[in-house]
Formats: sequence, C-alpha cells, structure tokens
Amino acid sequence: MEYTCIPEERFGEVIKHLRDNFFADEPLNKAAGLCQKGEGHQELEELSYATLKDGFSLMAVSQDDEIAGVVLNGVLQPGEMEIAQKKINMSDDENFRKIFNLIYSQNLKFDLFEKFQVDRLFDLRILSVDSKFRGQGIAKELVKRSIAQAEYCGFKVLKADATGIFSQKIIKSCGFETLHEVNYAKYTDEYGKPILPVESPHIKLEILYKKLE
Ligand code: ACO
Repeated sequence: MEYTCIPEERFGEVIKHLRDNFFADEPLNKAAGLCQKGEGHQELEELSYATLKDGFSLMAVSQDDEIAGVVLNGVLQPGEMEIAQKKINMSDDENFRKIFNLIYSQNLKFDLFEKFQVDRLFDLRILSVDSKFRGQGIAKELVKRSIAQAEYCGFKVLKADATGIFSQKIIKSCGFETLHEVNYAKYTDEYGKPILPVESPHIKLEILYKKLE
C-alpha cells in the first residue's frame, strides 16, 4: 500500500470512493438513511471538496492504483463552525440537518481555540476505508500519517469527531484524548425518541483532540 497526499486530479475518484464507502456506511449517515451505497450527496460532496482543497488530505493506494482509503483533513479557524451551522439549517435535507446539528451543537459547547491558545486546528474530518481493504490497519496508518503531517506543518492541535466505536478506538490508539462525548440515545426529540437510531455497537459521538508538543 502506498500513502500519499491527494492530488487535485484524483479528487473525483476520492468522491467516488466516498459514495461507495463512506456516505452510506458511516454510523450517523446510516442511522439517518442519508444515502444508498454508490449514491451521491450534494452537500456532503461540497464539504468534502472544500476539505480536499485545504491540501492536507491523504490516501492509501493499492498496487493496482486503486484508492483503498482516505483521510480528509481540513483547517478549522475561529468562527467557521458557527457559519457552517447556519448553512446546515438552510439545507432542504432533514437527515443532513439532523446529523450536522448534533455534531456542530456538541462542538460549539467548547472553544478549542481559547483552550489551546491557537488560531487554527488540524481537523481530521473524514476517515474512510474501502470495505474490501478493511481490517488491514489502513485507517490507523492514515491517522498516524495525518499527525505527522500536522506536526510538520506547524499545527499545535488536531481534532476529530469520531462517530463510531472503531474510529474512536483507532484515533485514541494514536494518542487522541476525549474532550467530550454524547450518547446517541440522549439526542432525542420532544417526545424523548432518539433522533438518530444509531445501530450497535456504535453508541456515542466523541470529540477527540491531540496536542502536539
Ligand atoms: N470490527 C472490529 N474491529 C475493527 C473494525 C471492525 N469492523 N474496524 C476496525 N477495527 C479495529 C481493528 O481490529 C484494529 O484494532 P487493532 O489495532 O487492535 O488491531 C483497529 O480498529 C484499526 O483498524 P484498521 O484496520 O486501521 O481500520 P480499517 O482500515 O478497517 O478502517 C474504518 C476502519 C475507517 C472505521 C472503516 O471501517 C470505515 O471506512 N468505516 C465506514 C466509515 C466510517 O465509519 N468512518 C469513521 C467515521 S468518524 C470520522 O470520519 C472522523
């Protein structure tokens, strides 16, 4: 497996990889029924392209030059999440709003810029491995290499919103710590019904961070 930065000419292939392996499989997307495998999602794709353009995303490529896995890393600056949350609420897709309102509302309880006295965070946004390449340590390697890249580029802090038990295990095994967690069972509507019926073994959203020395 070869690990490299994602060049612009492969952005389209990365989006195809995400349609086939992330948009339908990621625990919150799956709970909301956001897309079927292989299906596109305009807003998710716009977010993915914006992150790819930050230039910090990495991919694992097989011997046959097939994209086996990706980590989409972006730069988060003060005030950006507040703007993103306002945008989400203008979306016509109720399921998309449910997912991102949970993620953004939990994140906005904290000011990591203030906490760590930084003006940018290295944001590990999307971790995805092709189903036929899973269980070979590719995700873990992509996270390790993201940390090295953040360090090389002078970032002081990385963050990630890990939505499933395996991504939480992988990211924490690379030295991230939990800042905050929320059980999906507690994200309920006015009748106490879970808004996102996330399937076992995934039980919570974890906001994780790693401070670099
Ligand atoms: N069942 C049991 N253990 C698992 C599983 C699984 N399905 N997936 C990963 N693990 C464990 C491995 O056993 C391994 O443990 P070890 O280090 O003790 O041996 C560890 O997690 C690392 O596993 P990797 O092989 O590096 O993980 P993989 O390459 O299979 O990718 C991933 C894991 C990214 C979660 C993949 O299953 C996937 O793409 N899922 C769909 C999308 C998704 O949920 N992404 C994460 C959302 S959060 C975010 O994007 C920030």
